[in-house]
Amino acid sequence: MGNKRIFANQKMYMTKKEVDEFIKILGSIHSEQLVICPTAIYVEKFSQSKLILGMQNIFYEDSGAYTGEISPLQAKDYHIQYAIVGHSERRNILNESNDMLKKKIQACIAHNITPIFCIGETKEQYEMHKTNEILKRQIIDVFQGLKIHDISKIMIAYEPIWAIGTGFIPTEKEIKDTTQYIKNIVWQLFDVSISVLYGGSVNEKNVQSLNQIDVVDGFLVGGASTKPKELLKMYEVVVS
Ligand code: 13P
Repeated sequence: MGNKRIFANQKMYMTKKEVDEFIKILGSIHSEQLVICPTAIYVEKFSQSKLILGMQNIFYEDSGAYTGEISPLQAKDYHIQYAIVGHSERRNILNESNDMLKKKIQACIAHNITPIFCIGETKEQYEMHKTNEILKRQIIDVFQGLKIHDISKIMIAYEPIWAIGTGFIPTEKEIKDTTQYIKNIVWQLFDVSISVLYGGSVNEKNVQSLNQIDVVDGFLVGGASTKPKELLKMYEVVVS
């Protein structure tokens, strides 16, 4: 039986009707190998299903005058177990800083929520063979200053920015080597053995072969995770 996991980052996709349909098809699955991160407004709906849930984003204070934000304390009311931290869309569109990401990671851990910390290089950096250097920088910028205990609770999602929503993905060898590199770096610098997911254009067609890459611990799936039948097929691949 496979032990990789699928994390569905549903981003700002889906209407209420589509969410109902999604829950009808997948809502009875309760498995550590399938985690749904819905648009926040649908978390309550999903919390009535059996599915394990994550947030797409989380704030770093428990409560207060922070318009539009959702705290880890509030998320815990809905049995949230994971939170995506530092997705490239939030770093680039919403200008999330390394300092914010550090605080978000600490807040998650204080509430027993596993942070899924995202890193990834741009197309230009990839073409200039700077991927490893960039990923190392992104890791150090946020992990430095965190307690080793906290780092040991983090999962990393490696998402090349140029692979997100484009249909282009690195070769399997590149994914394998980069994932191994990330694990080695975290081990060397912080003495922690960390889980690493791959994200970027994972779908029903390529999941079978990506699933063969042993060092990869799972997948962070965007667009394809909003189609329940496609997601079900992908889930069947990783558990088989
Ligand atoms: P896509 O699967 O749509 O490429 O998105 C990947 C992603 O950003 C998951 O966080």
